Amino acid sequence: MKTKVYKIEEKNDPQIKEAAEILKANELVGFPTETVYGLGANALDKDAVAKIYRAKGRPSDNPLIVHVSDLEMLGQLVEDISAKAKALMDRFWPGPLTMIFKSKGLVAENVTAGLKTLAIRYPSHEIARALIQAAGLPVAAPSANNSGKPSPTQGGHVFEDLDGKIAGIIYSDESEHGLESTILDMTKEPPVLLRPGTVTREDLEETIGPILVDPSLNKGISKGVQPLAPGMKYKHYSPEADMKIYQGDLDKVVEAIKKVKDQNEGLRVGILCCDETREAYQADLVVSLGSRDHLDQVAANLFKALRQFDHDKIDLVLCEGYSSQGTGQAIMNRLTKAAGYEIIYV
Ligand code: TXA
Ligand code: MG
Repeated sequence: MKTKVYKIEEKNDPQIKEAAEILKANELVGFPTETVYGLGANALDKDAVAKIYRAKGRPSDNPLIVHVSDLEMLGQLVEDISAKAKALMDRFWPGPLTMIFKSKGLVAENVTAGLKTLAIRYPSHEIARALIQAAGLPVAAPSANNSGKPSPTQGGHVFEDLDGKIAGIIYSDESEHGLESTILDMTKEPPVLLRPGTVTREDLEETIGPILVDPSLNKGISKGVQPLAPGMKYKHYSPEADMKIYQGDLDKVVEAIKKVKDQNEGLRVGILCCDETREAYQADLVVSLGSRDHLDQVAANLFKALRQFDHDKIDLVLCEGYSSQGTGQAIMNRLTKAAGYEIIYV
């Protein structure tokens, strides 16, 4: 299949209509959002949705998030919208928060992989919203990467993974947040955090009081602990290289990483660090994610950096850890998954 590339900078670009026609014809379009790029399909059509699983090589037991362009669409898809959910919508929608509700059963059955619940996201990215609106359809969209690869934060990442497998890609700006949306299950009381993101646990609790956190987050999958979001059980976001995270006082972390680098002379070693420590390292590839004082920046740069290690054929990535406060929780969640939960405390 020839993949058509659209370069779109603003929401009134007439090419958005053309891309929306692809969705209406039950084909797939990669598109920008404020979190990561998504791979969209008509959520009402089973064959269209099946193409998502095929293009990404995604396991069929992993349900999809449905994207809407207004609250009217939400009302058609789900029921039992609680006062807490409304308070969260008021504060965070449109934006990088996904909420899970009881499904009305309107979407194709393979969207929810058999679950009675449906995850909904109302993106703030203007081109994403204009696309959904022009299609006039709820749009099922996972991250637009091959299953197992880091999520794409640039149009070029989508092209790298899916060229020839999907009908179109909208190239636009680099994703503002760079991590997938926060997922909160509103069908439970108290609501349960299934995936941390840049809408933080602290932000959520400030709005609706205490929430629960899926115990499998950051701990890995041990026997008897199944993550509540099916997708969280797969090894994800992983560079081809082996990855190890060093956690502790920053001075000690730097020392430990330098030592391990020296012990692995035969390998191509990469180091994932921050602006504060960048000068301390020499390796085959050293990437700074930005300053520790700006965790939003660190988050925005993370997936692009993981792809760089692949491009440079790095064998071993040594990575500095972060505290698990605020956005740090989401950063550490993605890092520990990429590292297969291997953390070395120094
Ligand atoms: O930021 C995002 O959410 C991006 C952009 C494109 O919007 N999308 C995204 O989708 O990250 P995906 O498919 O890569 O991740 C969706 C996660 C998976 O872990 C899936 O198992 C979980 O959401 N999920 C979807 N529906 C669910 C449901 N009804 N119950 C529990 N987990 C659900
Ligand atoms: Mg994904």
